[in-house]
Amino acid sequence: MFVTFEGIEGSSKTTQANLLSKWLTELGIEHLLTKEPGTVVSKECKHIRKLLLDPKNDLAPRSEFFLYLADRAQHVNKIIYPALREGKWVISDRYSDSTYVYQGWGRQLDTEEIKPMIAFAAENLVPDLTFIMDLPAEIGLTRARSSNTEFVGGDRFEKEEISFHERLRLGFFQVHQNNQFSRTRLLNAEKTIEELHEDVKEVLRPYVDEHETFIESA
Ligand code: TYD
Repeated sequence: MFVTFEGIEGSSKTTQANLLSKWLTELGIEHLLTKEPGTVVSKECKHIRKLLLDPKNDLAPRSEFFLYLADRAQHVNKIIYPALREGKWVISDRYSDSTYVYQGWGRQLDTEEIKPMIAFAAENLVPDLTFIMDLPAEIGLTRARSSNTEFVGGDRFEKEEISFHERLRLGFFQVHQNNQFSRTRLLNAEKTIEELHEDVKEVLRPYVDEHETFIESA
């Protein structure tokens, strides 16, 4: 089972991914909690993260795009696929939808042109379920800027103007519109942390039940 959390800055993806991981541990479900860009379990990805987010770097949009794909290709091939093959659940804080939205809608690269390249980098691995955490850009951005301890004053994206972040929100709506009958669930990230966690658990409950039945019958 491969679950991703997506959304604009400050949309509480990370908090919810952590809470989900804690719940899965309580249930005894083996899983890997990871993130993009720069999963901590890969030194190669950590190097790429620094290149991508340091505000001192002036990256061309296409260069930025390919660095995200390099991070993902490494992440999928060396970390995510091996974990899935071992039967673990994988929870990722951001994945391919972020590239489609940030580089497509945010940087305004042609979304139709980048789609096949995004799929190629990910070896066509699509999540089983994606939570899109939605809230107004201004609220998210204020939250994110005040909590960034890695790059003081905000990373390269948090420094972008509000219209950039409003475009991202629309981009995520588009992702949901394209996928809502298959893998995406749009959650209202203005709710409290506890309420959102309940929403996440409710969506995942059938998958957890199915997993438990499978383990019992094995
Ligand atoms: P990060 O500090 O990991 O924060 P968060 O995910 O909580 O926002 O920042 C990662 C940044 O990289 C974030 O601004 C979104 C951006 N990003 C892209 O532009 N494209 C991508 O493909 C991915 C995975 C992330």
